[in-house]
Amino acid sequence: MPTATIILNRTETHDSLTISAPTPGGLHGRLQVPGDKSISHRALMLGAIAQGETRIQGLLLGEDPRSTAACFRAMGATISELNSDLVTVQGVGLGRLQEPIAVLDAGNSGTTMRLMLGLLSSQPACFFTVTGDDSLRSRPMKRVIQPLQQMGAQIWHRHGGFAPLAVQGRILQPIHYQSPIASAQVKSCLLLAGLTAEGNTTVTEPALSRDHSERMLKAFGAEVLVDPETHSATVVGPAQLQGQTVIVPGDISSAAFWLVAGAIVPGSELVIENVGVNPTRIGILEALLAMEADITQENCREVAGEPVADLRVRSSALKACTIAGDLIPRLIDEIPILAVAAAMAKGTTVIRDAAELRVKESDRLAVMAAQLNRMGANITEHPDGLDITGGTALTGTEVDSYTDHRVAMSLAIAALVATGTTTIHRAEAAAISYPEFTTTLQQVCGV
Ligand code: S3P
Repeated sequence: MPTATIILNRTETHDSLTISAPTPGGLHGRLQVPGDKSISHRALMLGAIAQGETRIQGLLLGEDPRSTAACFRAMGATISELNSDLVTVQGVGLGRLQEPIAVLDAGNSGTTMRLMLGLLSSQPACFFTVTGDDSLRSRPMKRVIQPLQQMGAQIWHRHGGFAPLAVQGRILQPIHYQSPIASAQVKSCLLLAGLTAEGNTTVTEPALSRDHSERMLKAFGAEVLVDPETHSATVVGPAQLQGQTVIVPGDISSAAFWLVAGAIVPGSELVIENVGVNPTRIGILEALLAMEADITQENCREVAGEPVADLRVRSSALKACTIAGDLIPRLIDEIPILAVAAAMAKGTTVIRDAAELRVKESDRLAVMAAQLNRMGANITEHPDGLDITGGTALTGTEVDSYTDHRVAMSLAIAALVATGTTTIHRAEAAAISYPEFTTTLQQVCGV
């Protein structure tokens, strides 16, 4: 029987991933996904500003956490060579970041830029300049600049609120900010800015976003109050942070690719071990279960303040569902791969309230609709979502990641159920959050 062919073609500038994937018998195996990206950023940042040593096990070695590590090294934190076994961070202590002598480069990482801005704005007597890559310099920063300015921050930006940015750090005032969007990056930025402010800094969101900052700040010794009813989080300043041991669970946003692959490739059974299943992140499980995917959580446990489980997926016939409202922030990064699942499901899946996807690493609504439609899917774009009518056969063709890591990997999973050969251009984007993606793809396909 023919097996899959998965070839990564490297050139000096870009990689392309060519997949022709008859997968007789389906995908099989037990696998591990790399460390959670959100938790990895926060462990490096809190380690850098805490007193004493932080030890991080399971750090994601993707490009985004590397950007965070480089920025905080430039501000005086001693961070050991990055590896997934153990990274040690010698923190400078709260309010004691050093003025860097060069521009801080957040690369492709919105989390690095937005969270870091909270710390830079509240760092007295230091001046900072911050930039990022083409994608990040076109992403909105006003959402953090405006509330930081309400706290008294001094920030300069390009017209429209885009990076490059300049910051003159100073002592800030606490505020209660009613955020118009459910964004963990906005919330975390303000909580970090509030660490050195005198009093309570509170962020109230329209729906609950991921709460890794609240959990980790508490573990490092800050007083953090959360009100799940009103979706509010408060940090009491000035805080004291002491270095800790952080054990980073596998990233459910990376596991999502295998959950969908296992669900849509007939005959598959995969177990993804050690996945973080924080309630603010498991919207993907809820959506796939609503689509009648066969997914079970096993070996559920708590590791260093975060719930963790092994996830088993077996292929099954999927049905369309509606994904909207409060569910969106809990699966915000998984909508590209959910679009692939929906393209294979019976009926029309409706995604709404997801306009935020237009300002991610790419315009994920436009890019996923266009690229999957090139493969034969039936997707209609809406200002804040997609209608995806599943069940049309996908055909391999040339598609493009638009340099967006989650788009690149979602298209690779779509290729597993397409006839013929699919070539994904600019596939190197996967390294932002999942450097081992192609190797694991080959492994589960038995190549
Ligand atoms: C993240 C929050 C989310 C998410 C991003 C990581 C975080 O962004 O999309 O990948 O680590 O706080 P928003 O806060 O902009 O929704």
